[in-house]
Amino acid sequence: MLILGIESSCDETAASVVKDCRTICSSVISTQIEEHKKYGGVVPEIASRRHCENILGVVRKALGDADVTLADLDGIAVTYAPGLIGALLVGVSFAKALAMSCGKPLVPVHHLAGHIAANYLTHPQLEPPYLCLIASGGHSHIVEVLDYTKFRVVGRTRDDAAGECFDKCARAMGFPYPGGVHIDKASAEGDPKAFKLPHPAVAGNEFDFSFSGLKTNVINTLHNAEQKGIELNRSDLAASLQYTIAGILTDKTMAAAEALGYKKIALAGGVAANSGVRAALSAACQKRGFEFYMPEKPLCGDNGAMIACQGSYNFLAGITADESLNAMATLSMEDI
Ligand code: KG4
Ligand code: ZN
Repeated sequence: MLILGIESSCDETAASVVKDCRTICSSVISTQIEEHKKYGGVVPEIASRRHCENILGVVRKALGDADVTLADLDGIAVTYAPGLIGALLVGVSFAKALAMSCGKPLVPVHHLAGHIAANYLTHPQLEPPYLCLIASGGHSHIVEVLDYTKFRVVGRTRDDAAGECFDKCARAMGFPYPGGVHIDKASAEGDPKAFKLPHPAVAGNEFDFSFSGLKTNVINTLHNAEQKGIELNRSDLAASLQYTIAGILTDKTMAAAEALGYKKIALAGGVAANSGVRAALSAACQKRGFEFYMPEKPLCGDNGAMIACQGSYNFLAGITADESLNAMATLSMEDI
């Protein structure tokens, strides 16, 4: 079975061909980071325009690198939600036209389900059910992966996502966009206990997250130091922030695993590339005797292979779309 996956939900235009659910035949990613960097964040209209310009070339290269033609495909999978609406619409319109023109099934994929699926590409033995922490630029979720295509969200962020917290604090510290990876690099030189940062309390669901208080605390720390003319050690602040975010994500995930009886844990999303988060969650799982899975680093950020992989499982489950498929900026994983 060969599935083409197309991803355009944010600032990466990506396409990939995946064979039999788990083997990557090709993976092409055209990133727009350099362009958005000038503005300190993603400019939605620019993102849509770049997807429009790049998508045909990216898909053509993905097919060529895999040495397949459209006729060889069993289906065309595309991210239809959630994400920047103008960006999603480019991928959805393109995939729809391609599927209709070559008479292949169109397979809709939820972006976060795609992030989870990155784990199947890295770990051939991983099968549901398990509990997954998804931390990306737009979302922080704890999800029960009941089956390849069935999910239950047990915790979510009330405000900022973990990646957003990394990026906004990084910006205040003077790092370029996207700042998460710069915090990660600077942390290697810093003392994670140098600054005591808050673990924000969340009333109600104990598995929900809140990162806006932590972000404000870091920004205030920087402003106060600036007003007093004190030069803060940026590496120490970065290391303290990373240590705190990793601690919050790990504590909540372990609490949810223990409460719900999961002994198999996975990590997914762009923030899954963070060395502090990977180490903290891995150590917490090891301590409890839990199995732990995370995607290899290149598969943590947005890519087409994760969409093709999840698209393969959707296709096998009979989840296909007709020509009325639309993009959605927001959509819960439970409503797929
Ligand atoms: O999943 P993703 O590629 O896009 C979304 O679906 O949002 O996640 C992007 C996020 C950004 O916030 C980026 O700064 C963060 O993942 N990120 C990292 C690292 N690499 C990417 N955050 C911390 N440490 C990293 N090494
Ligand atoms: Zn993503």
